[in-house]
Formats: sequence, C-alpha cells, structure tokens
Amino acid sequence: MAERVRIAFIGCGANSRGHIRSVMSIPEAEVVAICDVNPAAMNDITDKIPGAASLPCFSDYRVMIDTIKPDGVVISIPHALHEETVAHALAAGVHVEVEKPMVVNAEQARRLIELRDRYRRVLLVGYQRHYLGPYRWVRDVLSSGLYGPIHFIECWLAQDWKGAGWRSVRALSGGGELADSGSHLVDAVFWMSGLVPEEVFALIDCRGREVDVLSAITFRCEGGALGTMAIVGEHPIRMDEGMHFWCRDACITVEGSVWGARQPRVTVQRKGEDPQAVLPEDMKAFPGSKDQNFVRAIQGGEEVQAPAECGLVAALFTDAVYASVDAGQPVRVQASTR
Ligand SMILES: NC(=O)c1ccc[n+]([C@@H]2O[C@H](COP(=O)([O-])OP(=O)(O)OC[C@H]3O[C@@H](n4cnc5c(N)ncnc54)[C@H](O)[C@@H]3O)[C@@H](O)[C@H]2O)c1
Repeated sequence: MAERVRIAFIGCGANSRGHIRSVMSIPEAEVVAICDVNPAAMNDITDKIPGAASLPCFSDYRVMIDTIKPDGVVISIPHALHEETVAHALAAGVHVEVEKPMVVNAEQARRLIELRDRYRRVLLVGYQRHYLGPYRWVRDVLSSGLYGPIHFIECWLAQDWKGAGWRSVRALSGGGELADSGSHLVDAVFWMSGLVPEEVFALIDCRGREVDVLSAITFRCEGGALGTMAIVGEHPIRMDEGMHFWCRDACITVEGSVWGARQPRVTVQRKGEDPQAVLPEDMKAFPGSKDQNFVRAIQGGEEVQAPAECGLVAALFTDAVYASVDAGQPVRVQASTR
C-alpha cells in the first residue's frame, strides 16, 4: 500500500463535505477522487473546498474504483443504495466507511459482513457516538457492572427532521426518522448497554408521508431488561437526545445534543443520593474521528470502533419495529446476533 492511504468519496451531498475536509486534514491520508450522479454536487465540492479543485470527478462509482483504485471509499448516498455500493467496493478489494444506517434490512447487513470477512477489508459504519467521551464513558461503566444489571432503558431522539427529497421516499430511504437519525440512537443504546433486543412493540405516525416521522417503541432484551424509545421527527429544536439507563443501584443519564462541538451531559444518581455530574475531562474521547479510525484501520494500526456488527443490530431492531407496526402486535427480533 502507498504511504498515504488513498480515499475516494461516493456521494457528494451535505454529509460528505465535512468528511472530505476531515480526510484532507489527516496527514497519513489523501482524497484522490469524488463521485456523484449529480454533477452540481461535485462542482460544489471542487468550487468550495480548498484543495479539492483538481480532484477527478466520476458519475459512476464502478468506473471510479476501476480507474483510481483507491484504498478506501467513504459512502454518503441514500440508504437503499448502500448495500450494492458497499458490496461492489468490498468485492473490488476496497475498504469502506459507509454512513448510517449501514443498510436497510438485516439480510443486507449479514451479506455485507460476509463480504467483509471474505475479502478481509475494513468496514466501518458512520456512528460518531462511538468516538465521543460521554458515550464511551457510559459504555465502560455499564459493562463494568459497577451499578448492577440494567433493568430499564428509556431513550429518545428529537429533531426538526425535514425528511427532504429521497429521505421521504421509502424505496430510497428504507424508512423515515427511525432509519435516518434514529439509527444513531438505536445503535448507541445497544452498543452502550451491551444488551441484545429480543422483542419489540411499536406504533408509528407518518404525518402524511410515506415514511415514519414519529415512533413510539417498547422493547424487551435478552435477560429481561425493558425499554422505551421515542423518535420524534417533529421538534422545534434542531436535534436533541437523551437516555436513562436504570440499573439496580443507580440511574445513568446521558442528555443533550451532539451537534457541532457540543457534548451531552452525563449524570449518575445512586440510590438515596442526588445526581452527580460526570466531569467532561473524566470522559475520554477516542483519539481521533471516525475518518481517522477508518484510515488507521486500513493501515492495520487500529481496531474499527463502529463495526458492521453494530449496523446489523440496528437493522435487526429497525426491521422488528416496522414488522411490529405492520402486524399491529409485538414481534421477536431476529436472533442472528446471538
Ligand atoms: N453520521 C451522521 O451524523 C450523518 C449526518 C447526515 C447524513 N448522514 C448520512 O449520509 C448519507 C447521505 O446523506 P446526505 O445528507 O449527505 O444526503 P444528500 O442528499 O445531501 O446527498 C446524497 C448524495 O448522494 C448522491 N447520490 C445518489 N445516488 C448516488 C450514486 N448511485 N452514486 C453516487 N452518488 C449518488 C446524490 O446525488 C447526493 O448528492 C446518508 O446515509 C445519511 O443518513 C449521516
């Protein structure tokens, strides 16, 4: 492999711009090409991002991969196109960072995990909470068992979700706010708690669209822990979220937005005590962004912090939510993570 890891981008919309800048700032990486079916999206990047003006532009990612032979690709395109694009890249021997949700159903997730293993490539899902101090701190405390087993998880994510363009077209998005930003919450609660969802009962309101905007979800995990999850796609504030992990001996709360430089607050309330805030300096972030983790994982120096298995858990849970809505009754989550 060349000294610098050569990264190409598939999808040049809103999300990719920050990632292109981020990869450009990583000394051991370089951006080598961009691809989008919409030339205007690529022009926006070559015109506005310093250092991007001379990047080769492609309208077909297959041609880009054949021509440029990048070490890795970062994929930021509509959700229902993720699977075929990731599969093509892996089979071509290219490492992949794919945005959330990794795929739109669990069958696709299993297929990509199989391809990742067959071709021995890196496959990282764009779940940035895995890199942030508050989430990592809570995950460590929960897995230590310090406060006993988790009995109940209460969590919510609220956003002024526009659902614009492809996001409200089920065939392209695979679902609404639950599959979109909600995927972060679904991933985070099971990644942090280590719990495996077993049964789900859900109600959704599409608010006149083709896809869910509001979701009220109850769930039970292996071992008996219960949970409720609220996904609120109509919210006056840009984005906010919260989680309570009710353990035997304490309640751990994570609250606040992760937009921009903001970090959520974490408090621990032990039995009979007032809530104690955890100091930001005590909650160590992963050293580097998801893009840096991707580059270093390609170099072989770092474990992927947001692996495809997390994408599978999110897909299994989301599949069960939509199946429960269709059935009008509780449904079991498929058991492939067990
Ligand atoms: N991790 C996060 O916090 C976060 C935030 C925003 C978006 N995202 C994710 O990023 C992805 C893209 O979202 P976005 O907001 O950038 O959407 P967007 O609509 O702004 O951009 C998507 C781009 O993909 C292009 N595209 C569509 N089909 C293509 C194809 N076959 N080949 C190449 N390009 C193609 C479109 O022309 C468009 O420019 C989604 O998976 C979304 O969920 C993640």
